[in-house]
Amino acid sequence: MDAIHIRGGNALFGETRIQGSKNAVLPLMAAALLIKDICIIENCPCISDVHHMQQLLRGIGCKVKCSGHTLTIDARNIEEDIMAGENVTGMRSSIMLLGAMLGRVGEVTMDYPGGCVIGERPIDLHLNALRRMGVSVYEKEGYFTARVKTLEGTVIRLPISSVGATENIILAAVMAKGVTVLQNAAKEPEIITLCEFLREAGAVIEGIGGAVLIIQGGHSLHGIRFRVPPDRIVAGTYLMSVMGAGGHIFLEDAPVAQMRSMLKVAEDMGAEIDVSREGLSIIADENRRAIPYLKTEVYPGFPTDMQSLLMAALTTAAGVSVIEETIFENRFRIVDQLKKMGACIELQGNRQAVIVGVDGLLGCEVDAEELRGGAALVIAGCMALGETVVNNRHFIERGYEDICRDYQNLGANVYIG
Ligand code: EPZ
Repeated sequence: MDAIHIRGGNALFGETRIQGSKNAVLPLMAAALLIKDICIIENCPCISDVHHMQQLLRGIGCKVKCSGHTLTIDARNIEEDIMAGENVTGMRSSIMLLGAMLGRVGEVTMDYPGGCVIGERPIDLHLNALRRMGVSVYEKEGYFTARVKTLEGTVIRLPISSVGATENIILAAVMAKGVTVLQNAAKEPEIITLCEFLREAGAVIEGIGGAVLIIQGGHSLHGIRFRVPPDRIVAGTYLMSVMGAGGHIFLEDAPVAQMRSMLKVAEDMGAEIDVSREGLSIIADENRRAIPYLKTEVYPGFPTDMQSLLMAALTTAAGVSVIEETIFENRFRIVDQLKKMGACIELQGNRQAVIVGVDGLLGCEVDAEELRGGAALVIAGCMALGETVVNNRHFIERGYEDICRDYQNLGANVYIG
């Protein structure tokens, strides 16, 4: 029952609305911890990562209510000393709480988040930056305690523009004494959303959207009502679905301004793109072109989260495509599963994949091993003749609110089995 069944081989026709962004809402939930007030977060996606984060916040004393797509987080009466002693464990995104917990209570003990199939996922950049703000880190077997009396604003230069490290530094800096200058900050849209959320709550942050953020700490924060922007990677998933299967779809609420790099790739493959205020229309016929070379990059480059989704669509494009993955060291796990369906893909080391377009894919049973790779298999299932069964649906449910509903809206024959 933890599978998705797809009867593929037909073009997609239909429209679906794009859900709120997973990678935007998780840091907002952490930011709410800094605010001794009530925050209301609208357009929140109903996904398992959000459910887990709600549990973590409840576990450290927040009152969290979820009604449909609206989340109410009341962090007014947290027992600071109890929270300080709490172990925040249980999932990777708990690392999002590191900066906020230090900002709120000055202490946190948490498991090392650990790697996943796409890479080792270290947190050295998070810890080194926080050390520069006066935090002491006591590393133990499998977990660590971070403690600080008063966070100090300082100049921090990130060697890699890490999204998560940028988020943790921002969350700590808004509560620090003095000014923090963060250089080589990540510029992903989710960072902008976090800064806008905090600024609306009373924080003073300059340089939003750029690589240098200047955060004036110590401003008191008040509760706000905030709407989560649509998920650019979910929109990109359905974009690559029509690029693989062909057809004509409309994506309501698609965050087009954040999708420039992926829309350019779709046009290079032969898509007809039409942008309106309401969303995005994509037409793709059966003659999709290959992409001779593309590399994943930090924003505004082509997102690493889109890499396996594009790979699936390229398996039947006319010609040879080359994708270079520059962000994570093990993000080609999906290749073996796509080859089971008839794709012709050769790996050159763990950073480059050569995809030779084939006439078509054949449905079969495949296994999802992580979130975006799992979604890529659903794309391949829409493209393949016959039935495809994608096992381990729970990986996909981490980031997609109801992928079957969305694909059914787009005319695909997809169901949970
Ligand atoms: C965020 O992960 C996203 N997750 C990822 O989305 C996304 O792929 C990634 O950013 C890159 O855009 C969330 O927002 C919840 P990083 P994050 O820190 O913050 C290395 C999805 O599918 N690094 O920008 O963990 C790291 O190993 C997920 O929704 C260090 O070396 O990514 C990687 O090679 C998957 N040390 C690179 O930096 C550190 O301390 C970029 O990672 C931190 C990161």
